[in-house]
Amino acid sequence: MSQHKEFKKITTHSLRQMKEQGLKISMLTAYDFSFAKIFDQSGIDVILVGDSAANVMAGHETTLPITLDQMIYHAQCVVRGIDRALVVVDLPFGSYQSNPSLALSSAIRVMKETGAHAIKLEGGEEVIDSVTAIVKAGIPVMGHLGLTPQSIYQFGSYAVRANTKEEALQLKKNIRLLENSGCFAIVLEKIPAKLAKEVTELINIPTIGIGAGKDCDGQVLVMHDMLGINAEFKPRFLRQYLQLNGMITSAVKEYINDVKESRFPSEKESY
Ligand code: KIV
Repeated sequence: MSQHKEFKKITTHSLRQMKEQGLKISMLTAYDFSFAKIFDQSGIDVILVGDSAANVMAGHETTLPITLDQMIYHAQCVVRGIDRALVVVDLPFGSYQSNPSLALSSAIRVMKETGAHAIKLEGGEEVIDSVTAIVKAGIPVMGHLGLTPQSIYQFGSYAVRANTKEEALQLKKNIRLLENSGCFAIVLEKIPAKLAKEVTELINIPTIGIGAGKDCDGQVLVMHDMLGINAEFKPRFLRQYLQLNGMITSAVKEYINDVKESRFPSEKESY
């Protein structure tokens, strides 16, 4: 079970308290009922219904194609498996970038139709009016800075971000803007560990890192990556806690052989 036994149900306030008490926050992505239930019962603090569903569930190369309706479907499945964790849902590309009123109506749909507890969106200065509108409506917002995959065609690659002085300064400005606009936490993706430490100490809300070193207030990984489902994906920041790809392959091969050789089902497995 979780180390944070005093937090029976995780809220945005619990995350703030964890930062104040120096307790690290654990976060994983999930996209369906069964995995969400296992993660929740294992004591995970936050489940992110990430738009990485576009990659790991739907097989797209980028996160751009996933729709708001598809995100809502995944979030509904996840929420049914949860008793304790805070559930955060990504607003997908195209559902908030063009104007604050579109952003607000997308966030309202997520909250109304899924039962999730918060939304996440990518960007700084350029999305501040949207963050303000969503927060004003009473919806908790998680920010996301550094490598923001919805802007991949602008970046041109998945390389580490904010490793120039100018970009680091811009990130510091953006993190303060997001905090002042009412975000309850901020994901920092693929930035130098030293910068992540600095900005974590700069703000009062928690930072959750992915490829951002150990000094963030919490860590997040994509579940398929940490379980080793996609065997070839091994970036430097990733720790694989299981090699599920190999385990599943062996099990499926054994099943195929049993069927071909008429070893399955046995008499005991028949009516
Ligand atoms: O969509 C996602 O999985 C994410 C994490 C990488 C933070 O945004």
